[in-house]
Amino acid sequence: LEKEALQKVEEAISLKELQDVRVAYLGKKGPITEVLRGMGKLSKEERPVIGELANKVRGQIADAIDSKKADIEAEELEKQLAEETIDVTLPGRPVPTGGPHLLTSIVEEIEDLFIGMGFEVREGPEVETDYYNFEALNLPKGHPARDMQDSFYITEDILLRTHTSPVQARTMNMIQGERPVKMICPGKVYRRDTDDATHSHQFTQIEGLYVDKNVRMSDLKGVLDRFAKQMFGEERQIRLRPSFFPFTEPSVEMDISCKMCNGEGCSVCKKTGWIEILGAGLVHARVLEMAGYDPKVYSGFAFGMGPERIAMLKYGVDDIRHFYTNDIRFLKQYHQA
Ligand code: PHE
Repeated sequence: LEKEALQKVEEAISLKELQDVRVAYLGKKGPITEVLRGMGKLSKEERPVIGELANKVRGQIADAIDSKKADIEAEELEKQLAEETIDVTLPGRPVPTGGPHLLTSIVEEIEDLFIGMGFEVREGPEVETDYYNFEALNLPKGHPARDMQDSFYITEDILLRTHTSPVQARTMNMIQGERPVKMICPGKVYRRDTDDATHSHQFTQIEGLYVDKNVRMSDLKGVLDRFAKQMFGEERQIRLRPSFFPFTEPSVEMDISCKMCNGEGCSVCKKTGWIEILGAGLVHARVLEMAGYDPKVYSGFAFGMGPERIAMLKYGVDDIRHFYTNDIRFLKQYHQA
């Protein structure tokens, strides 16, 4: 019996099995308990002999179980430690981080550039009155140039602004000719266009306005030249071509040279070597007058550009819709470390 029990103890491979062995041999219904229970039936001489033997066997089995139990526990601990090992030298998993949208970065870059030249940044409502969006900018009702900016009307007199020029009209109107104004206004604008690679019904603009005594075309040219060089590289040239806007007179469009395009060519560069960037001009006397500035004392320049276009030219983005479909693979390319 002892041999058999010790054999079983040896064979047990888990704490559960060991416990089963303990119950089977040492438990209340086990053979040893039975022997001890049957002691009464034995003779006086037999009792101490059998009793001692039974106790000895019981002790040996119990000892074997205890030592086996310690072995199994040590083994399991060993196993657990091996399984839960952490290699502290492994590199961590990268935590994905966000970053500014390309358009946000470009707008901020342009803002910083003009702040550096003394312009303040102003914002205005995207839902605008017909007065500030058109009338105050020398575009009275029925003016054919209103068609240049096909609009989203909400009521007859309220619309989604088609450009950020109304912010300039509002600012001038607030100041009422009492001091010079030097500002830029970035923001979203809306036009009824069918979206394609170069058109979007919603896009952004940054317009600038400088009104003071003796502001001349050469001032405009100087500011725009600085802008172009800082944005696209010092080797860039600018040229101004005559154009038309109802709120400026004279009006110009500005091109920048694109010689920077390397040997492989540059898709956004026209054959002429120039590419159009923005519209500008000297503020129309009527616009000044309507805002409370005396055009005999004050003069000013204004310009307007589309940050999407600037970003497209600067980074070779081929479709304006990339800015709004927010494909993370596109946006990620422009995250600065
Ligand atoms: N507001 C004009 C536009 O949206 C841009 C512009 C601004 C042109 C200022 C000249 C001067 O097209």
